[in-house]
Amino acid sequence: MTTIPATPASSIRLAPSILSADFARLGEEVRAIQAAGADLVHFDVMDNHYVPNLTIGPLVCEAIRPHVSIPIDVHLMVEPVDALIPLFAKAGANIITFHPEASRHVDRTLSMIRELGCKAGLVLNPATPVDWLDHVMDKLDIVLLMGVNPGFGGQKLIPGTLGKLRAVRQRIEAHRAGGGQPIWLEVDGGVKTDNIGEIVRAGADTCVAGSAVFGAPDADGGYAGVMRELRRRATL
Ligand code: DX5
Ligand code: ZN
Repeated sequence: MTTIPATPASSIRLAPSILSADFARLGEEVRAIQAAGADLVHFDVMDNHYVPNLTIGPLVCEAIRPHVSIPIDVHLMVEPVDALIPLFAKAGANIITFHPEASRHVDRTLSMIRELGCKAGLVLNPATPVDWLDHVMDKLDIVLLMGVNPGFGGQKLIPGTLGKLRAVRQRIEAHRAGGGQPIWLEVDGGVKTDNIGEIVRAGADTCVAGSAVFGAPDADGGYAGVMRELRRRATL
């Protein structure tokens, strides 16, 4: 049984995106990132409809589940979303996030995720207004802010992400001050050692990193080396 810690083992949570892993050796890859200190496995689901790419589904989630004990963080880039949610919950997902534009009934979809025993979250694209959060704060365990347009790994962080992170952080703190539940603020896309400091200072507590982790040269300590460096720069 995977338990999700209330606070990360270190100051931030790191969620390597397996989009940049070697898909021919996925079991080995997820074991390696867990051994190297990852807090979550970020699992990117793309449907060639909501985004122009096609990746992995519940069968692959189920296949990697026995290889790790850390939570699997499923990021749905699919439209429509509802039919896939029970399949991912059954396949061992612990966190399920989706893009609000891709659901007809956002409130209902969030409730469904929680009823299935998973943490629920909304994902905001670079041009998606933060107002989407307004009437569902009570139903959120996580907000995932895209630092790039979704669909591909290895893109550059869009600078406007930092201001948006600050805006969402403010909403989360106001919600907490009013007695609301904790909500994680995760950022996805373009996170590297040279920008993670400003990303965390702008309010992120959870960082996805795909190409930065899986592209890490062995000479720099491989996955463990880059994750150590990401944490170090995040706290400078
Ligand atoms: C993009 C995905 C991201 C992506 C991040 O649509 O949601 O998770 O893999 O990759 P990097 O860290 O390489 O930008
Ligand atoms: Zn993602």
